[in-house]
Amino acid sequence: MNARAQDFDLEALYPRVSRVIPPIEWLTYMPDIEAILRLKRERDAVVLAHNYMTPEIYHCVADVVGDSLALAKAAAKIEARVVVMAGVHFMAETAKLMNPDKVVLIPDTRAGCSLATSIVAEDVRSLRRRHPGVPIVAYVNTTAAVKAEVDICCTSANARDVVESLGAPRVIMLPDRFLAANVAKTTAVEIISWDGACEVHEGFRAGDVRELRSVYPDAVVLAHPECPPEVVAAADFSGSTAQMSAFVAERRPRRALLLTECSMGDNIAGEHPEVEFLRPCGLCPHMKRITLPAIRRALETMTTAIEIDPAVATRARRAVERMTAL
Ligand code: 13P
Ligand code: SF4
Repeated sequence: MNARAQDFDLEALYPRVSRVIPPIEWLTYMPDIEAILRLKRERDAVVLAHNYMTPEIYHCVADVVGDSLALAKAAAKIEARVVVMAGVHFMAETAKLMNPDKVVLIPDTRAGCSLATSIVAEDVRSLRRRHPGVPIVAYVNTTAAVKAEVDICCTSANARDVVESLGAPRVIMLPDRFLAANVAKTTAVEIISWDGACEVHEGFRAGDVRELRSVYPDAVVLAHPECPPEVVAAADFSGSTAQMSAFVAERRPRRALLLTECSMGDNIAGEHPEVEFLRPCGLCPHMKRITLPAIRRALETMTTAIEIDPAVATRARRAVERMTAL
C-alpha cells in the first residue's frame, strides 16, 4: 500500500506515468485530474484505488493504492468524510462495511465481478445445510449479502492463513474454484469449493507460459492465485497483486510476465524502468469502467453512494473484521 498526497502540481505528476502514457494522451487527462484533486479537497474525500486501475488513476488521483486486503484495511482507518472506491462494487461494499457512517461512492455501479455474481446468500445457506459444522470462508470478491452468511473472509494475500486459522479439518472456501484449488495444494486442510471463476484469470494457459519461456528463458513468471492451478504450477511465484508488486521490487528481474490484469504491469512499470514487462495480460471489463471522468462525476454529483441493509452489514462486517484481525 502506498500513501499518496492530495496536492501535487500536474507537471510533477507526469514523470510518474511517462513510461506508459504518451504526452499527447496526458494532455487529455489533465482537466479531469485537476478537477478531481480540487473536488477531493472541497468534499473532504479520499480515493482508494485497486492495483488494476489505469495508471492515470493509480498514480495521479489515488490517495491509497493496493490489493483487496490493503484496501479493506485502509478503509477501516479513513478519516475523510467521503471515500471514492476506484475499484469494483464488492470493494466499495467492503469499504462501506468498515465505515458505516461515511459516504462511500462507486463511480460506476456496473463495475461488478464474475466471482461476486457466481454465488448468492441462499447458495451459502444451502452449503451450510449440506455440510453442517464445516466453517465457511468467503473470498472478499463476494457481495455483502454473501459475506453475512459466512464465518470469515479472505483475500488472495491471506487465503491459506485464514483457512488454517480456523483449526478445522475441512473448510468450505467460496466462490473461486481456482483459488480454492491453489490453496488446497498448500495445506493439509480439506477444501470444499464452489464453481465460480474470475473471467480474466481463468483465461490464462500453462501452454502460453511454456511458449513464452522458450522465447524469453530469463523471464520471471508471476501468476495471480485466481489462475488455474496448472498456470500457477508453471509460474515462478504466485501471490496477490500487492505480493506480485513486492516480489518485482525485491528481485528486480530483467523481464517479468505478470499473469493478471493488464494495468498491474503498467502501474509498476514506472517504478521499475529496468524491468521489461511482457504480455500477455487480461483486461477486466469491470475494473475498466472506472475512469477519470467517472471519478470526477462521482465527486461532482456525490453518486452513487453505497447502501447496505444494516442487518446484513452487521453480520458481513463481522466476517471481514475476523479476517483483518488475524
Ligand atoms: P487482489 O486481492 O490480489 O488485489 O485481487 C483482487 C482481484 O479482484 C483480482 O482479480
Ligand atoms: Fe473480478 Fe476478475 Fe475483475 Fe478481479 S479481475 S474484479 S476477480 S472479474
